[in-house]
Amino acid sequence: MAKATPFAETARLLLLRPTPEIRDTLFRWLKDPELTRYVGGVRDDDKIVRTVEFVLQSWETVGFGKCILIDKLSAQVVGMAGVTPLEFEKTRVNDLGYLVDAPYAGKGYATEACLEVLKQAFERHKLERVTAWPDARNAASIRIAQKLGLQFVRELNLTYLGMKFEGQHLYEVTRAQWLAKTARD
Ligand SMILES: CC(C)(COP(=O)(O)OP(=O)(O)OC[C@H]1O[C@@H](n2cnc3c(N)ncnc32)[C@H](O)[C@@H]1OP(=O)(O)O)[C@@H](O)C(=O)NCCC(=O)NCCS
Repeated sequence: MAKATPFAETARLLLLRPTPEIRDTLFRWLKDPELTRYVGGVRDDDKIVRTVEFVLQSWETVGFGKCILIDKLSAQVVGMAGVTPLEFEKTRVNDLGYLVDAPYAGKGYATEACLEVLKQAFERHKLERVTAWPDARNAASIRIAQKLGLQFVRELNLTYLGMKFEGQHLYEVTRAQWLAKTARD
């Protein structure tokens, strides 16, 4: 982890480009029934390997993607957050994803990391729109999306990395909405 390239930082966190060593961390997180409760459940090994490839690939193709979050004080890995391009209903979207490991939850890390991720997405990478699709039962995740300024669009079902998701809530924020929000805050 220490060799990964810094992408950005916040008051408490370093956001790092992941290296292939992320594999072990993703195996730990994606085999955890609680952490995966609203993100498709405990993942089979082959799906975790696909997830690792997916996480690393966007950095190669577009130069951004999911970041590893490191707590500056403790140097511990606390989670992952980032925007990843993917194909959805034959359209390319920029999907915001976030995960904070259980010992670090409830401290505002996901919100803090995602605010910086969105800043980078809109101001550095000039994206026009960012989406997220939290499970409708994932109240903490929906709260985060709303705090970030994403707005509910509609319900959706989708297949992602070979997994079926039903009853997701599609949220999005446009570049114009983001700029208006940051001017207000
Ligand atoms: C969901 C998750 C990302 C939250 O991370 P976190 O660092 O604890 O999030 P934050 O502290 O930044 O913000 C959580 C917000 O949700 C609120 N919240 C937490 N549990 C809640 C609940 N059951 N109902 C309503 N709101 C809730 C918190 O109070 C906080 O809002 P506030 O700042 O207004 O008080 C983390 O628990 C996680 O990774 N879960 C597993 C993976 C996952 O579900 N990822 C989301 C995929 S879309």
